[in-house]
Amino acid sequence: MDKFIIDGGRRLYGTIRAESAKNSVLPLLAASVLTEEQVTIREVPAITDVLCMVQILRELGAKVTFRGEDVIIDSADACCHEISSALTKELRSSVFMLGSLLTRFRRAVIAYPGGCDIGLRPIDLHLSALKRLGVKIEERDGFIYCKCDVLRGAEIALDFPSVGATENILLAAVKAEGRTVLHGAAKEPEIVDLQNFLNGMGANIRGAGTDVIVIEGVKRLGGVTFLPIKDRIEAGSYLIACAVCGGETEVEGVCGENIRLLLHKLRENGCKIHTKNDKIRIESSGRLKSNRRIETMPFPGFPTDLQAQATALNSGAEGGALIIENLFETRYKYVPELRKMGADIEVNGRNAFVRGVSRLHGATVAAGDLRGGAALVIAALGAEGTSEVLDLSHIDRGYADLQGKLTSLGAKIKRVRI
Ligand code: UD1
Repeated sequence: MDKFIIDGGRRLYGTIRAESAKNSVLPLLAASVLTEEQVTIREVPAITDVLCMVQILRELGAKVTFRGEDVIIDSADACCHEISSALTKELRSSVFMLGSLLTRFRRAVIAYPGGCDIGLRPIDLHLSALKRLGVKIEERDGFIYCKCDVLRGAEIALDFPSVGATENILLAAVKAEGRTVLHGAAKEPEIVDLQNFLNGMGANIRGAGTDVIVIEGVKRLGGVTFLPIKDRIEAGSYLIACAVCGGETEVEGVCGENIRLLLHKLRENGCKIHTKNDKIRIESSGRLKSNRRIETMPFPGFPTDLQAQATALNSGAEGGALIIENLFETRYKYVPELRKMGADIEVNGRNAFVRGVSRLHGATVAAGDLRGGAALVIAALGAEGTSEVLDLSHIDRGYADLQGKLTSLGAKIKRVRI
């Protein structure tokens, strides 16, 4: 068990490069078992969610090797269609394996998926879409048993643009007989990345990034070498950290369009933002004005994965902010920890009202989930005095070398074994 010891109050200066997007890499790893040929995913981040997904692939019988930052998957010998509950409970993204395994083996058995404890996270939309494609599903004793003789293209309409359900449908329909038309699809950039990856394997998919995706089933998929898009949530987290601390930082690799709403909110806070190609530069005095209102929405709205970090920012800004979380029911579990640092936040269901205090102070706090953990680190960087952030395993799921990157920007942060 490790913890961070953070001395707050340092300004952040310099440049960092965003990693490949976690939320792109995980479904791509799941998609790698769709072919018996070799798949290479380039510049994969060193985060534990990736290691967990690799473990799942190995359990299925795939050979997975790391060459530098690249991951090479050879699933020619994969023969297993069951994923143990120990692994699915570790990682929410294991749910993508349903679509991939059904395409490859016509069978899939997985335990109910886990992941961050941020709400109910049902998978009813995934399952009803799979049924539309001809899959028979039984749920017993915490496991989901899926099988089909043949996958058949269908018209599918999602009641809500779920990212995971959209990705699962692509994975299940890519080799189905005939055409699948998905209405009400999620439009996140990571879905476009999955479409590009699958088309690189020989799939025929168009429309990702809009709310209608058309998948013409193909007979065969081959190997591919693919460089995923960079992580807009990681990039956004560093931009918020710089806004809070003050300074001048550039994040490379992410196009401003992919986090347009965050950039708009940071300008509202009083920061100067410049974007050019895939570079975003922020200048901040460290004295911020509150955002009046931030409401999380599916892309291109404000991402729920940056809600906690934005709340941390508003905790030390001048004025009051209303935060509305529309995607997950219990995504304010980090709030009691922020209060230990002096934050004044009232939570009422999906709403949090943040009254900015002039400065947060150091405290010992514990990360309870990935993004909530990032929010605590950001708050500690801006706070007066020393903080300790415990339970880093949550942060390690999605941020590669957080300490190294922040140190390179001038933060004072140490990682120590407890
Ligand atoms: C993905 C991201 C996650 C992000 C989220 C929202 C990955 C690996 N994870 O998660 O980081 O926070 O998108 O942008 O890409 N829902 C249902 N039934 C379903 C599926 C979802 O009701 O079958 C609801 C959920 O409860 C939630 C909303 O839809 O309220 C959004 O969920 P979804 O987009 O599916 O999120 P994930 O794919 O789990």
